[in-house]
Amino acid sequence: VSNMLVDSFGRVHTYLRISLTERCNLRCQYCMPAEGVELTPGSLVMSQNEIVRIASLFVSSGVNKIRLTGGEPSIRKDIEEICSQLSSLKGLKTLAMTTNGLALARKLPKLKESGLNLLNISLDTLVPAKFEFMTRRKGHERVMEAIYKAVDLGYDPVKVNCVVMRGFNDDEICDFVELTKDKPINVRFIEFMPFDGNVWNVKKLVSYAEMLDIVGKRYTLTRIQDHPTETAKNFTIDGHRGTVSFITSMTNHFCSGCNRLRLLADGNLKVCLFGPSEVSLRDPIRNGADDNELRQIIGAALKVVANCFRSKERKHLMPECLTLPRRQIDQ
Ligand code: GTP
Ligand code: 5AD
Ligand code: SF4
Repeated sequence: VSNMLVDSFGRVHTYLRISLTERCNLRCQYCMPAEGVELTPGSLVMSQNEIVRIASLFVSSGVNKIRLTGGEPSIRKDIEEICSQLSSLKGLKTLAMTTNGLALARKLPKLKESGLNLLNISLDTLVPAKFEFMTRRKGHERVMEAIYKAVDLGYDPVKVNCVVMRGFNDDEICDFVELTKDKPINVRFIEFMPFDGNVWNVKKLVSYAEMLDIVGKRYTLTRIQDHPTETAKNFTIDGHRGTVSFITSMTNHFCSGCNRLRLLADGNLKVCLFGPSEVSLRDPIRNGADDNELRQIIGAALKVVANCFRSKERKHLMPECLTLPRRQIDQ
């Protein structure tokens, strides 16, 4: 791994998350207002060539995992081509996608052929009417279809991201665990990062401890030892084919082991999810920078980063797929 990827806290960043678009085909209440959000003009969104160029620079410097995010990454027209190009980068071990699954089922066989080898599908409820309420769109059965299609295509595990919110889906935790009974599904219960205006609103937060208590009453869980950079605490369940995990961003954050970098759809590089600092890679590329100049810009961004895990006020919340509310809160 090159020095470029080591930050000022000595953390080595080998995992790049690339937001392919700010657009989304859902309007989840915790993410967007009903009318959507202001989008970066298309001409300022990274092109396929720009994405591949930046990614290849990172991979040649030691990044071994790339995750495609959004908005909703699967709605990008050139998604298959992007996957083929990225998956053929020498040194890349994992090409992953975090998707809401709505428009995925049909595209999945081609995406798999294009080298997409890890899938995280977001689903917060198993009740269609609640899905419609939370996402302001219909389509629960299409997401379920995408999950089962992914299983059929051999994704193992298929990760299902469930953000747990008090009063909304905390009564469905055990129903989600049932998804793991006979299928290679890894259900990941995510602590809600409740952002409301500019303050943390913890009323809807169901803590890891509480979730573990709920699941532990019905099932026998055994912790799986995980990698230090892993954000999920993983468990097997007696008698189940799949597994469950907990992502404890709020009550037990994992910043010291964080190995992630983020490339936003507009070509800005952002080291920390909660941090305000961003550096454009798109502008130097469009001004003709060569690879060495780009390496210097990236290296410098990692060295100066005033990582927010040291900051007492974690007010710059930007859950990963929320590219746009960033504008509202990073003011
Ligand atoms: P794997 O690569 O499969 O481990 O997935 P992942 O957890 O890296 O990615 P995913 O997109 O599935 O994100 C799951 C949850 O983790 C989401 O709720 C994200 O908002 C949250 N998350 C992702 N990256 C970070 C991070 O760096 N810090 C914090 N606090 N939360 C994060
Ligand atoms: N808290 C926790 N997770 C969130 N996500 C989006 N907003 C939040 C939030 N406020 C999740 C999505 C998706 C993942 C990328 O981030 O549901 O699974
Ligand atoms: Fe779309 Fe994800 Fe935001 Fe929901 S949380 S509106 S799926 S970007």
